[in-house]
Amino acid sequence: MEPILTKYVKQPGAATLEFYTKTGGYDALKKALTMTPDAVVEQVKQSGLRGRGGAGFPTGMKWQFVDKKSPKPKYICCNADESEPGTFKDHVLMERNPHLVFEGCLIACHAIGAKVAYIYIRGEFYHVQLVLERELAKARAAGFIGKNIFGTGFDCEIYVHRGAGAYEAGEETALIESLEGKKAQPRLKPPFPAVAGLYGCPTAVNNVETLCNVPFIIANGPEAFAKLGPEKNGGPKLYCLSGHVNKPGVYETSMHTTVRELIYDPKFGGGIRGGHQLKCVIPGGSSVPVLLPEQLDIPASFDGVAGAGSMLGSAGMIVMDETTCMVWAAQNLLYFYKHESCGKCTPCREGGDWLHKLLMKVESGHGEMRDLDLLLSVANNIAGKTLCAFGDAAATPVLTTVKTFRAEYEAHIREGRCTVPSSWRASRPVLAAH
Ligand SMILES: Cc1cc2nc3c(=O)[nH]c(=O)nc-3n(C[C@H](O)[C@H](O)[C@H](O)COP(=O)(O)O)c2cc1C
Repeated sequence: MEPILTKYVKQPGAATLEFYTKTGGYDALKKALTMTPDAVVEQVKQSGLRGRGGAGFPTGMKWQFVDKKSPKPKYICCNADESEPGTFKDHVLMERNPHLVFEGCLIACHAIGAKVAYIYIRGEFYHVQLVLERELAKARAAGFIGKNIFGTGFDCEIYVHRGAGAYEAGEETALIESLEGKKAQPRLKPPFPAVAGLYGCPTAVNNVETLCNVPFIIANGPEAFAKLGPEKNGGPKLYCLSGHVNKPGVYETSMHTTVRELIYDPKFGGGIRGGHQLKCVIPGGSSVPVLLPEQLDIPASFDGVAGAGSMLGSAGMIVMDETTCMVWAAQNLLYFYKHESCGKCTPCREGGDWLHKLLMKVESGHGEMRDLDLLLSVANNIAGKTLCAFGDAAATPVLTTVKTFRAEYEAHIREGRCTVPSSWRASRPVLAAH
């Protein structure tokens, strides 16, 4: 598939307004403003566009839920927090194709009756903020953003808000809290943001990549979008390949592409580095179950990956070869989750730290067999028992690795060391108990 969202990103000057307008930029906005908001929502619904932020929720349906009859202002929040481990696609779009992000935000605002969109970017993306602010100023000066856009009477402003660098700030209600100046902690749902979101007003929170797909749908029609991928998994998709592949990077392709092709095809990952063997891949950022080498002949689509018992999530594919110790990998991930827990829900705040301590104990060679049951029990008492999906995300690396690589855990306990052949952990001296 010819790239659509990232077609020009490697060309010099691709991020500028001049380049964007020369290549048809803002034509979709012009067209959308000749349509009623309901017609725009209908087109997005018909396209089958599913959210690229993690859950794959249908975007048109989300917009339809926004209470348009409410007398309150409506808001679009563009979720650019991008903090899921192994996920680095949204920053490419913002840094190299910022006007596509703006155009998506503007069309979304028109569709739900909003006059303001906030782009919430993660704290570490200072350099991205500079690009966005620079290009926003140009788009405003050219009349694409602001009052009476294209003389249609449509007023719309876009603001960039940089967070302080917290994974939880990407959860939609925590993002809204943070935008309001509070701690990025999740809200109890319902009410959902579509009814009571930012400042208690109807709000749609959409991922950067999701919004970037909207101009194509308006310009080319919903059928053109849908037919780019398998049924209910239409449109172009960005994949982030990281870990032990020869060519890590961001790749745009159709969701017909299989996970095996993404890892091995020279157009994409180009196989496993240094002639090593694939051990497993986490296909959707770090928060989803692993896939084994024999499970890769599935479309890398929302439904394809779900059918194999995992999730496409943010499409951050973390590839691990046979030298990877899975106890160490789980321990490494739990360090991240315990550190990033916002602390609001007890199971996540206390359980994440507990899991990490147990994993450190096993990984350093001081584990006992009963620790495996304890790991599963603690993880199962976090998953599904918190206000947001962070709890499930934190429990998953433990649940999936104990289930799939239990022998590796048991070997650590029996031998008091890592036994994974050629793992750099195997030659590491045993640490004192934690
Ligand atoms: C802990 C946590 C972190 C999240 N981080 C992000 C993020 O960085 N970017 C994102 O788009 N969605 C993130 N999400 C998902 C959002 O809550 C929300 O579902 C998404 O922004 C909706 O956009 P979409 O419908 O376009 O996918 C996160 C969810 C959780 C539970």
